[in-house]
Amino acid sequence: MTKAPERAIGIDIGGTGMKAGIVDLTEGSLVSDRVRIPTPKGATPPDVLATAKELVGLLGPDAADLPIGVCFPAIVKNGVTLSAANVSDDWIGLDADKLFSETLGRDIHFVNDADAAGLAELKFGAAKGQPGLTIMTTLGTGIGSAFLFDGKLVPNAELGHLERKGESIELWASASARERDDISWKDWSKRLQEFYDHVEFLFSPDLIIVGGGVSKNPEKFLPRIETRAPIVTAEHRNNAGIIGAASLVLG
Ligand code: BGC
Repeated sequence: MTKAPERAIGIDIGGTGMKAGIVDLTEGSLVSDRVRIPTPKGATPPDVLATAKELVGLLGPDAADLPIGVCFPAIVKNGVTLSAANVSDDWIGLDADKLFSETLGRDIHFVNDADAAGLAELKFGAAKGQPGLTIMTTLGTGIGSAFLFDGKLVPNAELGHLERKGESIELWASASARERDDISWKDWSKRLQEFYDHVEFLFSPDLIIVGGGVSKNPEKFLPRIETRAPIVTAEHRNNAGIIGAASLVLG
């Protein structure tokens, strides 16, 4: 039997930033600097692939032979990207897993970004040992979601695309919508409340986890949100995607 790897690289591709780090897979923690490059404008496949390669280079010689997990903001089925909300439409229908493997010169593991964040919380964070349904939500450029049921990920939940006034709710309630519309945290919390009310009504989760960049400042909005289920911050904050992507190499 081959020994499970102790360390892996996680690459988290977002609509605004691409981030990577080396992760200790026993602890579920970053053991390198977290490197970040802004997502290339338009996020076309060649540009994103080249930036992923650059990120691995930035991690230095320690990263040279490590296995890699990549997470991406789209529906991912069998390594193929099937949607594109905050990236180029050219991703739709691409065998992204194969393209990243070829570009990075090694086998990779590939999933949706919110699913990766959910896995990090399941294995090493707020969802560990949690019975029933946990819904992880990531608030960033879009709204990502992961369903974790009795310790297992149910992949590709797309709650950011619940419809509100004929549009995906993430266009109105994501963290980037708060910045774009230049609204107060209080007013943004009202938008989030509407989102979480809808999610709770539909799925009656037992726990809700909030991740994404804004989970660094939960005091600004979380106390204003009322849900039936407990609602908590992701233990791994905005590193959950990197950690969860790396943890994919454990199978
Ligand atoms: C995408 C999801 C992604 C989320 C967060 C949404 O627009 O459809 O797949 O998880 O953004 O990045």
